Amino acid sequence: MTPDPSPPAGSGDGAAPGAYYGRGLPYLPVDTAPGKIIAIEGTDGVGRSTQIRLLREWLEVQGYGVVETGWTRSPLMKPTIELAKASNTLNKLTFVLLYATDFADRLEKEIVPALKAGFIVLADRYIFTALARGALRGIDKNWLRNLYGFAIVPHLVFYLKVDVDTLIRRVLESSGMDYWESGMDLKLGDDIYDSFRTYQNKLLREYTGLAEEFGFRVVDARQPIELIQNQLRQQIGAFLK
Ligand SMILES: Nc1ncnc2c1ncn2[C@@H]1O[C@H](COP(=O)(O)OP(=O)(O)OP(=O)(O)O)[C@@H](O)[C@H]1O
Ligand SMILES: [Mg+2]
Repeated sequence: MTPDPSPPAGSGDGAAPGAYYGRGLPYLPVDTAPGKIIAIEGTDGVGRSTQIRLLREWLEVQGYGVVETGWTRSPLMKPTIELAKASNTLNKLTFVLLYATDFADRLEKEIVPALKAGFIVLADRYIFTALARGALRGIDKNWLRNLYGFAIVPHLVFYLKVDVDTLIRRVLESSGMDYWESGMDLKLGDDIYDSFRTYQNKLLREYTGLAEEFGFRVVDARQPIELIQNQLRQQIGAFLK
């Protein structure tokens, strides 16, 4: 059998920041685009939006153009994903493909144009969220990494790391536990609280593995908002210089 000469798409092996992980979007070359992608990863309710809002203000004051992009925010896919979540009738692979379509649409219409125009793209979650959630739902690891071979390697990935007890406190104080963020589709516990704890514990373990595989910059998300922000600003500031 002849081995496949192409690198494993989406594995990150050897792909440089700003380049596609795998085959990418062949009709949209990005190699010379001057913009940067900064991804903020972390589990549900950990504080990503809070940090991104503060980062945006800070970057804009310094004169950078900033574009935000976030999971399931593509105008094309948002209504479909919301409908699919509400009816909960699709199988897990179909969900994976809906999320990937959302990402591809945002990549083509928001991320790549912003990079070409020299903007900083602040990404609220990136492909790693899909890899972590997919792993928990038994989706083949290589298949999933290949699927996301159309994505661009971010210049920086920050992982907001938290423990499950802190997360539970934070979530109960804010929006409460959501069906999907509790992994209720996986039937892991008797009630939403049990399910949330088990599901998030598993998810945090997946993120830990991904942090190593993809070299995330890990930030302790148990700290106060301002301290986390200072650490992000310090590292981003050093990178942009
Ligand atoms: N470091 C922190 N310490 C304490 N509370 C925090 C911290 N960061 C965020 N919060 C609070 O936690 C809640 C969730 O924060 P935020 O909405 O930023 O999280 P998120 O990761 O964007 O959540 P989601 O996954 O729902 O999008 C908010 O009420 C926010 O004020
Ligand atoms: Mg948010």
